[in-house]
Amino acid sequence: MKRVSTGIDDLNAKLGGGYPMGKAILVTGTAGSGKTIFGLHLLQRSCMDGMKCMMVATEETPEDILLQADMLGLDLGGYYNSGQLTIERVLESRSKIAEQAAKLGFTQDGLGIDLILLADLVPDCTDIVVIDDVGVFTLSMTVQDFRDQFDALNYTLNRKGCTTIFVMDESAYDMTNRIADYSVYGSVRLLVKENPYTEKIERYISIPKMRSTKLSLELSLFDITSDGIKLRKPGSKTE
Ligand SMILES: Nc1ncnc2c1ncn2[C@@H]1O[C@H](COP(=O)(O)OP(=O)(O)O)[C@@H](O)[C@H]1O
Ligand SMILES: [Mg+2]
Repeated sequence: MKRVSTGIDDLNAKLGGGYPMGKAILVTGTAGSGKTIFGLHLLQRSCMDGMKCMMVATEETPEDILLQADMLGLDLGGYYNSGQLTIERVLESRSKIAEQAAKLGFTQDGLGIDLILLADLVPDCTDIVVIDDVGVFTLSMTVQDFRDQFDALNYTLNRKGCTTIFVMDESAYDMTNRIADYSVYGSVRLLVKENPYTEKIERYISIPKMRSTKLSLELSLFDITSDGIKLRKPGSKTE
C-alpha cells in the first residue's frame, strides 16, 4: 500500500508512513478541535511533494484559509497562486453545481446543493482533496440520503484516484449515527478534554479505524503551535 504523508511527522510514524494513497479518511471532532488544520497539513505537504491539491470549503473563504495556514507556518499562498492548489468555496460554486443538478435531475433544498454533486467540482487529475465540512449537507438530508450520497461521492473520488479527507463536525457525525465511518478507509477523531488532574484542556487524536494499517488504539496527545500540529512524545510532561 502506497502512503501519502499526513504532513505531521509523528503521525506518519503511527500510520505506517501516512494515509493510504487513493483512499478516503474521515476526520471528526468538535468546533476548534483542529480538523481544518489537519487538512492544511496534508495540503501543504502534498503541494511540496508536487501533487495537485484541492480544498472544497463550505465555511471559510480562500483568504481565511491561506491566512490560517500562514499563521501555522504552512505556506500555501505560492501553490494557490500557481494553481497547484485550488480552493473551491462551495456556496459560491452553487450556480455551477445547480447546472449539474438540473442535468442530473436532482432536487435541491437546504444548502441548495447535494453532497454527491461535489464530485463534479474535482478535476480528474487531482491527487489530494480535502472537503471541509461535509457536515453541513446533512442538515437537509435524511440519514439514508446522506449515506447514499456520501458513499457515491466517496466511490467517485476513489475512482478518480484521489486521496481524500472528509472533515465532518461532531454534531453532524452524531446526528447521522456515525454511519460515515462505514464508507471510509480510515477514521480519525480529534478530542478536546480537560485533564482532571491538572485541569488543563488537552487535545487528543484517536484513530479507531485505518484499513491495511497496524494501529495502536491509544490516544495521542497533541498541541497546536505556531508551527502547526505537534504530537507529544508518550510520557512527556504536560506543557
Ligand atoms: N497559531 C496558532 N497557535 C496555537 N493554536 C492555534 C493557532 N491557530 C489556531 N489555533 C487553534 O486551533 C483551533 C482551530 O483549529 P481548526 O482546525 O480551525 O478547528 P476545527 O476545524 O476543528 O473547527 C483554534 O481554536 C485555536 O485554538
Ligand atoms: Mg474547521
